[in-house]
Amino acid sequence: MDSIIVRGGRPLSGQIAIAGAKNAALTLMPATLLCEEPLTLTNAPRLSDIRTMTQLLQSLGVEVTAMQGGKVVAMSSHGLTSTRADYDIVRKMRASNLVLGPLLAREHQAIVSLPGGCAIGARPMDIHISALEALGAEIELKDGYLHAVARGGLKGAVVPLRFASVGATENVLMAATLAKGTTVIENAAREPEIVDLASCLRKMGAQIEGDGTSRIEIQGVDRLHGATHAVVTDRIELGTYMLAPVIAGGEVECLGGRLSLVESFVAKLQEAGIEVTETDLGLKVRCLGDRPKAVDVTTEPFPGFPTDLQAQMMAMLCFAQGTSVLEERIFENRFMHAPELMRMGARIDVHGGTATVHGVDKMKGAQVMATDLRASVSLILAGLAAEGETQVNRVYHLDRGYEHVEEKLGAVGAQIERIQGQ
Ligand code: UD1
Repeated sequence: MDSIIVRGGRPLSGQIAIAGAKNAALTLMPATLLCEEPLTLTNAPRLSDIRTMTQLLQSLGVEVTAMQGGKVVAMSSHGLTSTRADYDIVRKMRASNLVLGPLLAREHQAIVSLPGGCAIGARPMDIHISALEALGAEIELKDGYLHAVARGGLKGAVVPLRFASVGATENVLMAATLAKGTTVIENAAREPEIVDLASCLRKMGAQIEGDGTSRIEIQGVDRLHGATHAVVTDRIELGTYMLAPVIAGGEVECLGGRLSLVESFVAKLQEAGIEVTETDLGLKVRCLGDRPKAVDVTTEPFPGFPTDLQAQMMAMLCFAQGTSVLEERIFENRFMHAPELMRMGARIDVHGGTATVHGVDKMKGAQVMATDLRASVSLILAGLAAEGETQVNRVYHLDRGYEHVEEKLGAVGAQIERIQGQ
């Protein structure tokens, strides 16, 4: 398995281009199952999760063609051959469950493996199941698979979600586009990736209002047609690279970044004494003073502080002046990066869903282990300012969510390289 080696202490300067959002692409790709005509995505990120979704769609009979090195993904679902998402693919990536809603809507049936345990928490499927049942699906669990049927097709309904789950909102939104009548999703998730999905579905002929609010109304239509859609900017990659100059020193402009994607995150950066400026090309970040100030952070559904930036924020707070309290409210087990950061000299106490970070003025490079996607990049960020060499092992998680991280950081002056594993 590959490792990443970072040598700390180099201030950064320059521009980093932010890719299209992984989490948007992972829901836009299954949307192709809703219609026979081609759906083409531009600004797609080049990530292993996208290749996993490609394999899954191909296993269902979708033709998927990657062009321009993977930046354009053309899909055609005119001849589906299967409605079964196998455990072998689903276990690699939970977002595989996003084929459930579209398959039920178009084929009136689907068999989808449960994803199984995940390193950052239990992540059950109950909200997806009860939402699709509200649309008339019958869902049974057999041998680790959800067997879903919608005899006579799905029917519009009021669908209240007990929690604003991103994936459940996406599944029911896609399913409702082809259901008979009107569907109202109450307590819907409001993430930008959902707004992006809704805007693509509208291009395909769907009738949707209210995306971006907690009440989404969908008027079912008989069929959808093909479309071309540019994937929204990845706000998590954006936030990650915005933290790089804060930790390493210097100034970086993140191309394609917009404030509206990261408002709650930027508010915390500003509270920590960091200057963020919106430019014609994106967002520019500069740390005022030697070290950022400590700030308290609580993760929440959008528009709150994103859980997917919590690990990276912790890496920054390790170097802050003072003590910060980080509260994780979305996933129950998402502090696995803390012990690894402590190997580098961070002072962190974790109690349940709360981590108290006592800022230190120096950390030292060490061998550390990447435990999940966002944890791995937090260790790279910490390595940018640690004395000496940090070796992040098991970086396959990183490649699921960050394209060419060593090239992007290397281009703004970081000393970073990938060591190919056997
Ligand atoms: C998506 C993102 C992920 C992000 C998360 C929260 C994708 C591909 N992934 O994941 O990067 O961290 O949103 O912003 O878009 N839950 C249940 N029952 C359910 C569904 C969820 O209890 O049926 C719980 C989960 O265990 C978790 C919380 O709800 O504690 C949030 O999950 P959810 O919003 O569904 O996240 P995902 O869609 O899986």
